[in-house]
Amino acid sequence: MHSAIAKSQRSRGVIDRYREFLPVSASTPIVSLGEGNTPLIYCQQLSKRVGRGCRVFVKNEGVNPTGSFKDRGMTVAVSKSLERGARAIICASTGNTSASASAYAARGGISCVVILPVGKIATGKLLQAFVYGARIVAIDGNFDDALRIVRELGESGDFAIVNSINPDRIAGQKTAAFEIVDETGDAPDLHLLPVGNAGNITAYWAGYREYRARERSTKLPAMIGFQAAGAAPIFYNQIIEKPETIASAIRIGNPASWKQACAAIAESRGAIDVVSDEEIVAAQNWLAQHEGIFVEPASAASIAGLFKCCESHEAAYSFQKIPEASRIVCTVTGHGLKDPDAIIQRMEELKPVAATTNDVRRAIG
Ligand code: F0G
Repeated sequence: MHSAIAKSQRSRGVIDRYREFLPVSASTPIVSLGEGNTPLIYCQQLSKRVGRGCRVFVKNEGVNPTGSFKDRGMTVAVSKSLERGARAIICASTGNTSASASAYAARGGISCVVILPVGKIATGKLLQAFVYGARIVAIDGNFDDALRIVRELGESGDFAIVNSINPDRIAGQKTAAFEIVDETGDAPDLHLLPVGNAGNITAYWAGYREYRARERSTKLPAMIGFQAAGAAPIFYNQIIEKPETIASAIRIGNPASWKQACAAIAESRGAIDVVSDEEIVAAQNWLAQHEGIFVEPASAASIAGLFKCCESHEAAYSFQKIPEASRIVCTVTGHGLKDPDAIIQRMEELKPVAATTNDVRRAIG
């Protein structure tokens, strides 16, 4: 009984499940919160909207331990940092990386410093870094400034950097591609996801390629990335000095994995495209109200992008040219409750009615 419990506890988490594909050894101290193994949800309404007999699945990364895909990479990055004897980790963040780093640092018993652009972090994410006990430094600048400072501080040797410029992060995040292939028996035809610092598109592509090389899949998907229109350096092929978007998680003007993202897009014959803030908000609401999946704005970029691909003549990747019955996966990267502010503003104030069945029936209308 005791060993059964120990086994089930051990068997959770991406390092435990994909150890042979990850840079860990028997002596690596594993810091895990049971991340990964997230639902791949078949979406009937989305499939219907896309048409052509396509089957659309949503990979819901918002149900990871700290509510975003970052946990997959953080378990590896923090475990490796511990193995190398680090006493503190550091990251720049638009919110989710800092939430994840703070939690895994707490779990691993090391300190965590997070450098954040002031006033641009969603409430829930800031709250997470605070409650997990990170040292939070807000800067009067944007994410790109924060990452530059983190790179410089990392050179001093006092901190282990856990942004996705750390290859351990990418290694952990590629497990999401493994899960998709393991669950469905092959890679999808198309994979859509939001792009910010461009680590995740790099990681998925690495994962799909690795599984293909090991003959666990027979094909590779076209990788289609979406940036917010006001923060789209890769799409416009130029650094954006003052990126702006409601999707604060991907408010990035100079992505660290820019080159790798371009390689993934070119090698997979995919595309990079932009979606407007209006399209993002509309997709966030649509997904919640038609599929019951509540995601943060940045995550809704992949759904807004899906709509653009199948409905707009201006799409960089038009679904008119894809074979009928294609299998499509959209990654939604973070939970909707992390970023409630814009929604709270739209909510009507609740005016109570008398506590009688009749009054309640009348209020229902
Ligand atoms: N979606 C969410 C919810 C994110 O938090 C991020 C990145 C992305 C998409 C984009 O992923 O950077 O790998 O291209 N968030 C980082 C952070 C930058 O600091 O939390 P990417």
